[in-house]
Amino acid sequence: MQANEEILAVNALKSIARNEGIKAHIQRSPDLYGLLLRAAKRFVTGETKEECIARALNLMSKGYLVSLEYIGENTKTDWECVNAKDEFMRIIRSVGDNGVKSTISLDLSHIGLSVDPDLTYSNLAEIAEEAVRHDLTVMISMEESAKTDQIFELYKKTARSCPNVGITVQAHLYRTEKDLRELLDYPGRIRIVKGAYQEPSAIAIPRSRQLDERYIQFVEIAVKAGHPVSIASHDETVIEEVRRRGYLEHPHAETEMLYGIRPGLLRALNGAGYRTKVYLTYGKEWYLYLCHRLAEYPPNIYVAIADIVEPARTEAIPY
Ligand code: FDA
Repeated sequence: MQANEEILAVNALKSIARNEGIKAHIQRSPDLYGLLLRAAKRFVTGETKEECIARALNLMSKGYLVSLEYIGENTKTDWECVNAKDEFMRIIRSVGDNGVKSTISLDLSHIGLSVDPDLTYSNLAEIAEEAVRHDLTVMISMEESAKTDQIFELYKKTARSCPNVGITVQAHLYRTEKDLRELLDYPGRIRIVKGAYQEPSAIAIPRSRQLDERYIQFVEIAVKAGHPVSIASHDETVIEEVRRRGYLEHPHAETEMLYGIRPGLLRALNGAGYRTKVYLTYGKEWYLYLCHRLAEYPPNIYVAIADIVEPARTEAIPY
């Protein structure tokens, strides 16, 4: 794709990602849902937790750590939020019973943030306590900037009593350096990502060398503070620089990548003895997730078309 067309494609994908009408239409249309699911399956392990756990066990047998997410966001009713929380409780118990020592990842808007902060807090606390009982950790994802303050507030409130809960920060937001320094006072792991959401230029930096340098600087801040950190990026240049500086050897550092993205790069790091984690997702609400994966790397649009035509391609992702 040419540069201008690529920018157009990225912006279009980021806006359709947030378009509830398109999402509802796909969910209602069995044909469309089935076709796009073939493309989603490169990034999503399946529709059920059993498929996700099977893939997690396979990856663990190869020496990877795993992070599991029941996919969803912006849940609209109390009832759906409690249902989502209940599914997280079930996956925690299932992975505990299967001996999967994993991280559970979630979006707070999946369990209540778009409905009621108190409900979100009680759901998060319940999930975190269940995770403690199974010796698991919980990672809170970071959503669009309108939610950032609320997400940090709920994280800080929960982290006081549940040190097994961690938080994600987005390097592309200008505010993040200050946030990161504050978060170092809390025990939870900090996952550093570049940022997947389309944000106004007044508050965020686009993909650029400047962003890559900020990303590395934030990893450095966390590592030098001796804080548990997940270096969550597929950017080979960034990872190489972080490795060259010795940060991957930090005892609390791990490199985390999304399932289906740059498996060869993660495999090489795993083979070299670094702590590597695969972020696995499952569920039926994969629409926004798929849009993000296509928008952040537009050549994936071609991959998606090939996967739709030949679904078996997604069955053997080479970890
Ligand atoms: P960048 O987008 O600059 O890409 C660098 C290179 O990596 C590309 O040139 C390409 O080679 C490769 N690459 C990147 N994306 C690819 C893709 N989709 N397919 C194929 N190759 C690709 N975001 C957020 O806002 N909130 C969150 O909570 C999280 N959580 C999260 C957890 C984990 C474990 C990861 C790895 C990422 C997230 N993200 C996220 C997403 C993150 O913000 C970001 O959008 C993606 O990681 C892509 O950015 P990169 O750092 O990979 O680099």
